[in-house]
This record gives sequence, C-alpha cells and structure tokens, in this order.
Amino acid sequence: MKSRRLLLGLSLVLQAAMGVAKDDGLARTPPMGWVGLSFLVEFKHSTLTTLVPSWNFFACDITQDTILKAAQALVDTGLKDLGYEYVIMDDCWHAPARSSRRPHPPVADPIRFPDGIKALADKIHALGLKIGIYSSAGTKTCAGQFGSLGYEEIDAKTYAEWGIDYLKYDNCYNEGQAGYDLVSYNRYAKMSRALSDTGRPILYSLCNWGEDHTWNWAPTIAHTWRMSGDIMDSYDAYDDRCPCESMIDCKLPGFHCSMTRILEYAAPLVQKAGAGQWNDLDMLEVGNGGMTTDEYKTHFAMWAVIKSPLILGNDLTKMDEVTKAIITNKWLIKINQDRVALPVNRVRKSIIKNPHGEVTGNVQVWSGPLKDGAVVAIVNTTPEKYMMRYQLVDVYPQAKKTTSNRYSVLDAWALTNPSLGIVEGNWGRSLGESFDVTTLIPLEIPAHGVSVHLWQVGDPDRASSQHVLHGAEL
Ligand code: GLA
Repeated sequence: MKSRRLLLGLSLVLQAAMGVAKDDGLARTPPMGWVGLSFLVEFKHSTLTTLVPSWNFFACDITQDTILKAAQALVDTGLKDLGYEYVIMDDCWHAPARSSRRPHPPVADPIRFPDGIKALADKIHALGLKIGIYSSAGTKTCAGQFGSLGYEEIDAKTYAEWGIDYLKYDNCYNEGQAGYDLVSYNRYAKMSRALSDTGRPILYSLCNWGEDHTWNWAPTIAHTWRMSGDIMDSYDAYDDRCPCESMIDCKLPGFHCSMTRILEYAAPLVQKAGAGQWNDLDMLEVGNGGMTTDEYKTHFAMWAVIKSPLILGNDLTKMDEVTKAIITNKWLIKINQDRVALPVNRVRKSIIKNPHGEVTGNVQVWSGPLKDGAVVAIVNTTPEKYMMRYQLVDVYPQAKKTTSNRYSVLDAWALTNPSLGIVEGNWGRSLGESFDVTTLIPLEIPAHGVSVHLWQVGDPDRASSQHVLHGAEL
C-alpha cells in the first residue's frame, strides 16, 4: 500500500514536470489493438508501391467483413486476452459524400459497410473488444475521403452514437492550417473538445506526424500522438520521402520511414510520454514480410519498451507461427503495460566500426523503470553479432540509489526451451536470481537484433511468481 502511494506520488510529480496529461483513465498504459489498413495495401499493391507517390491511394478496400474477421481473429488467437483490444478501421470506411441533410453527418460506404458502423460496433463490443475509426483534421482524408475540418461536432456526436471507442485523427488536406504550434493545436483541440462533449469515453489518437512540435501541446488534448511520417516495412532502407534527420524541427515528416529511422526520431521525444500521453511510433509491421525475425523482434521490443501504442498491422487471419510468437511475447507486453507507465530512455549510443574503420552501425542502450525494478534494452544495428557486458549501475542511473537490492534478471527474448524453437509462449529465460547492480551481465546481441532484460527487485520467489503474469493481468 505504502509503495502504491509512493508510486502515485512519483507519477504525479513526473506529470507535473511534463505538463497536464489527458489522464482520464483511457490510456493509463499504451493502447493495444489492430488496425485495418497496411497488410491490405502493401500485399495487394506490392508491385505498384514503387510506381505511386503514396500507398494510401490504394487503401480503399476495407469492408465490414475484413474488420469483423480481424476482430474474431483477435479473440480466436488469444491476442485479446493479452490486451489487444482495439479494432481500428483506418481510412476509407466512408461513403462518397456526407449526408446531404443538415448538419451533414458522416455516412459509411453502403456497399462495403452494408449494415452500417453502429451494427459493426455492436458486434465488436459483443466480442469484448473496442472499435476505432479514422478521420482527418482536413477537408479530406489522406485517401481523399471526406474529412472532419468544420464538422468536428457532428462527426464526434455521430461516432459516439455509433459506439466508437477510439478516433485516429489525421492531418491531410488541412488547408494550410499548420506551420505554427498554435494553429495545429487549435485544429486538433477542436476535435478533442467535441469528443469530450459527447460524454462517451473515446480515446483520441492524434496523427499529425510530429508537425509543429506535437509532443509539446498534444499531451493536454490527446491520449497518443504520432511523432513521425508513416512507417515502412523495412529495417533501415533509405528513402528520401522520409527526409528529416530528426523530428525536432522537421518541416516534412513524409512517409516510407524505416523502423530504425523512427527509433532514432523517438529517442529525444520519450521524455514527453507518461500515463495518458504516449508517443505513437506508428503501427507494427511484424508479419508483413519486409524484415527478418531478429529485425521484427527489435521492432516489437522497442515499440513495447518505448511505450508506443502496440497496434498490429498484419493480417491476423493468416499469421505464421513466428509472427504470432513475436507479438505475444508476454514479457514485452508486461513491460509495455507496466503500472509505472514511463518509457525507457536512450542512455548510450556507440558508433561501431569494422577493422577498416568503416562505420557499420551502432549499439544503443535504453533503460527505464518498472514497477518492481528496471528494464534494459540493447539494440545492435550492425550486420554482425555484438558481444558486450554491462552492469545495471552503469546503464540505469537510478540504480545507484538501490545498491543493496538483489534482483532476478530475465532475458525477454531468450527461448525458454530452445528445442521448441520460436513458438508462442517460449520466451523468457531467467539469467539468475540474486544479482546486484554491479553484477556483470554478458550479452551476445544478434545482427540487427536486440536484448531485453527485466530486472526485478526483491524476493526472487515473489519476482518469479510475478513472471507468469500476462500483461493484461497486471
Ligand atoms: C496517413 C496516415 C497513415 C494512414 C493513411 C491513410 O498517411 O499517417 O497512418 O492512416 O494516412 O490514408
């Protein structure tokens, strides 16, 4: 009880330092779910993606059937029980135009959504899930459907009547209402107020790609905010359509941003995240085919420890064993949903050179607090495995104050039973049960891989019994 009070005190102090969070309980920890968009597009049009300016133009094929099948798959695969609860329709649920009757409420496409969104929401709720919808703070959405600029009240009201639980609110066709923080803030705050006025709890997922320093003003009006251009299913492919080196003063967030590019963008921005206010690193590409297993493990792990929303973007009805094993890693979900609700920080980034003096990548150390300890994540972006040793006291500054603690340490990506291989539930091997902050931990991180260690303080018996908890059971 005492530690809970201390925890509450700590998080209030931190929130005071970060600004007033929209901590209405809707996103105390990062939201988890699935979004209906990416696999439909990248797979169907994979041969076209190099020929067109944006894949978004081809995204208009979601149907009530696709959404319902994904919802059912969340239940059948057990993903729902792990905490993946939002089923989000992205762009293109729209009819060709709004209703012609004042005040012109939004209308869903009658062919692809013949039963309407309310009926779809009812079915998704009956499965014990929540439903998300998409619009843009512009005259049109990114795929050219009708937007919500000037229609905020009627749109929010209609979404609430339909039973919507989550709104992703994009930035296309904003008619030049951007370029200054206050201009963007006002445009997005209008929808925030409209959503609040409905009285229905609707998670507000702001998506202006980090334009106009979103992280400085979004925490007071939204629960999550995108902080970069759109992700592409690639570990590190170079692409000038994602031109900025850093998001801090980026004038063109773009799209086709590789996973490691987004990781780099996120590093200085994690300080803005906490309960009810999360940097959104964009949806997960795990299972879409563009990265290796170790690269997808890095992708999933880093999104989890940075406390990004975990929004799956793969086809849940056709997942292979490895994809499912990665997205169900219960230790990483547990970290993502930890009650302390703070992201890891990058505390070290070492450039690595080969024997010829050429830079081959870097090794990054990220660390942060957990309810009963700490997490350390070490990323190796080089094409070779990397061997190292670390002490908690060196990589997690707060550990200095806890020198007398004994910890159990668990490697979240080690196979519990190597003979089983990469299958669901086979992650998480204990490295030892009575380490202290100066114990040297040896590591071998695969090429383009990551190691994640959970340091749990206290009685090892208690710590290991907590280890069997699922994220959703925290
Ligand atoms: C923008 C968003 C994407 C996606 C598309 C849909 O590009 O950033 O996440 O929603 O629009 O058209």
